[in-house]
Amino acid sequence: MTTFPVSENAEWVSVLSYTTALTAPFAIQAALKLNVFEILNRHGQLSAQQIIDLLPRPCTNPHAPALLDRLLHHLSSKSPTFPCPLLTASLSPTSSVILYSLLPPSQYFLKDANGVSVGECVSQQVLHFLDTFRHLDAVILDGGDGFQKEFGHHISHHIAEHTPKLVAAMASMTAVLMPQLLDAYDGFADVGTLVDVGGCTGYTLIHILDKYPDLKGINFDQPQIVTSGAIHPRLTHVGGNMLEAIPQADAVFMMRILHDWEDDDCITILKNCKTALGNKHGKVVVVDFYIPDLMDGYVPMHNFDILMMSSHGSKMRTAAEYRIMGRQAGYTDVKIVCIVNEYSVMEFLL
Ligand SMILES: C[S@@+](CC[C@H](N)C(=O)[O-])C[C@H]1O[C@@H](n2cnc3c(N)ncnc32)[C@H](O)[C@@H]1O
Repeated sequence: MTTFPVSENAEWVSVLSYTTALTAPFAIQAALKLNVFEILNRHGQLSAQQIIDLLPRPCTNPHAPALLDRLLHHLSSKSPTFPCPLLTASLSPTSSVILYSLLPPSQYFLKDANGVSVGECVSQQVLHFLDTFRHLDAVILDGGDGFQKEFGHHISHHIAEHTPKLVAAMASMTAVLMPQLLDAYDGFADVGTLVDVGGCTGYTLIHILDKYPDLKGINFDQPQIVTSGAIHPRLTHVGGNMLEAIPQADAVFMMRILHDWEDDDCITILKNCKTALGNKHGKVVVVDFYIPDLMDGYVPMHNFDILMMSSHGSKMRTAAEYRIMGRQAGYTDVKIVCIVNEYSVMEFLL
């Protein structure tokens, strides 16, 4: 075997990987559109040619197997910008063909009962968020948000306009999170009526109602969203604006909402949550991404913070920042009860 002298500058190699970092979400999106995960799940180990033969859409490119091989190779490799391989590749024992099969993380890219997967979030980001990133420098210097600058409206409006796929993507993520969250947090056991603020079509409340048979749920979201609300015997839907008023309940639940809003809006929403409890000794339970107090070192959700800055003009917050915000909104304290898969479950105490 010939050996070559290898001269590498580790910093340069790392920086080089940033120049192509954009490939990861696009490669995943293409694999989803080509049904790669579903086909491998159904048929087990397959070559690129076998996957193409199983596609419902006719293939007119004679080079398709070679091209798909390269895509699948990417999904099977670990790199600085693709740290979690989704497939495994091995040489066929009888030929020089490469066979691919699913690795455990691929389960999140398989369609659920509603025909979507967590992978849909990747597609939705590519589809809706990509263009907003071009405004990141202007967001920093001039304020505002990338959605407004790119599309001329706030992200809330965008969600309402593109409901089905975005809702499906969020519901799919919720289906993964909620069973674990409800195992870790039992704070709804003594609640009569729970309002989910920004609850979208009510998919989160259904998980909670299914666990607590005496609980009644109010799903509160934008009027255009609740018209296609989920159906459950103990669930009612109310349309409105959380910046104005929130329906009365014994407890308020709010998941993945506050990171969408800037501080002043969050304080308004939190004040409205408090008002919704009336004079009762209720509770406000907030679930949002966990960011450690020290903003250095490896923090998985830093990516999300930049996404929020660019698209919403908002931010991810540390526990200390939530505590300050809670006090400004009239709460005595904010307690992190538990952390589940990078989400913290916080109680805003009256
Ligand atoms: C990021 S989604 C979170 C949905 C859900 N809580 C979850 O965790 O999957 C934000 C939700 O807030 C809703 N929303 C945005 N602005 C709103 C407003 N002013 N009043 C009520 N709901 C609003 C959106 O329609 C959307 O369903």
